[in-house]
Amino acid sequence: MSELSVDHLLGIKYLKKEDIELIFQTADHFKEVINRPIKKVPSLRDVTIANLFFENSTRTRLSFELAEKRLSADVVNFSAASSSVKKGETLIDTVNNILSMKVDMVVMRHPNPGAGIFLSKHVNASIINAGDGAHEHPTQALLDSYSIREKLGEVAGKKVVIVGDILHSRVALSNIFALKLQGAEVKVCGPTTLIPKYITSLGVEVETNLRKALEWCDVANMLRVQHERMDISYFPSTREYVQLFGVNKAILDSLDKEIVVMHPGPINRGVEITSDVADSDQAIILDQVQNGVAVRMAVIYLLASKIKQL
Ligand code: CP
Repeated sequence: MSELSVDHLLGIKYLKKEDIELIFQTADHFKEVINRPIKKVPSLRDVTIANLFFENSTRTRLSFELAEKRLSADVVNFSAASSSVKKGETLIDTVNNILSMKVDMVVMRHPNPGAGIFLSKHVNASIINAGDGAHEHPTQALLDSYSIREKLGEVAGKKVVIVGDILHSRVALSNIFALKLQGAEVKVCGPTTLIPKYITSLGVEVETNLRKALEWCDVANMLRVQHERMDISYFPSTREYVQLFGVNKAILDSLDKEIVVMHPGPINRGVEITSDVADSDQAIILDQVQNGVAVRMAVIYLLASKIKQL
């Protein structure tokens, strides 16, 4: 396979296994590039990309911007908080105004699930979903799988547990799609109130006992409790959550094997993981962030090559 089967990256749900393999092979090349003294290639000199962030971000926004600049694309950044969205301008009007300035590609984070899908049907540009509400975060799942592949050799056959607030997590859903597509075994673990009932229909098992989940897995991906997406209390207290679902060094050291610990960030230190875990050699959290640049370079390059002769 030499090109992606899709024209937009709206979710892992729309990808084939071969798309992921192509993205990873391309990311391998770009990872080598960004470790050179001169980290830039001229591949996207004639491509203009708009980064539209309607929701807060640190890692994803900076990682996309770096990826675009390292490919020599022209980049414009848009933050809803300081835009005419505040005066009532619609999403389609906002994007069409930006596109009229000859923009080729849009990277968008939006609080509404399906915002990227909606946009892809109404505007003439390639859309990359940088996180849409509690729906999908495809580039996060790609960089997570890429980091597992880098650490453990391959994703197929690996046992991955996703721990925490599954209900509100776009990272969980995209990771489940990506891991299953590549042949990993997946369990989710957390309070039953934070595990959606449909989850087993995705080929995922539920384990509510953290110790059993950790004894089973090769990789634990620890998710943040997303208080900002909650309008009710899903568990009695943060203290009880930490006791039942928080990972600390003592529990990791008591296992008879060394598992890989991941976290998409931002971390609530002392809640889903303690600092001694987050900062330990078992955690690959900063590798995930570093790999995000190469993986996003690959996604942007492969999508751009479908709209331009690169
Ligand atoms: N992992 C992630 O999406 O982080 P940001 O919200 O900081 O982009």
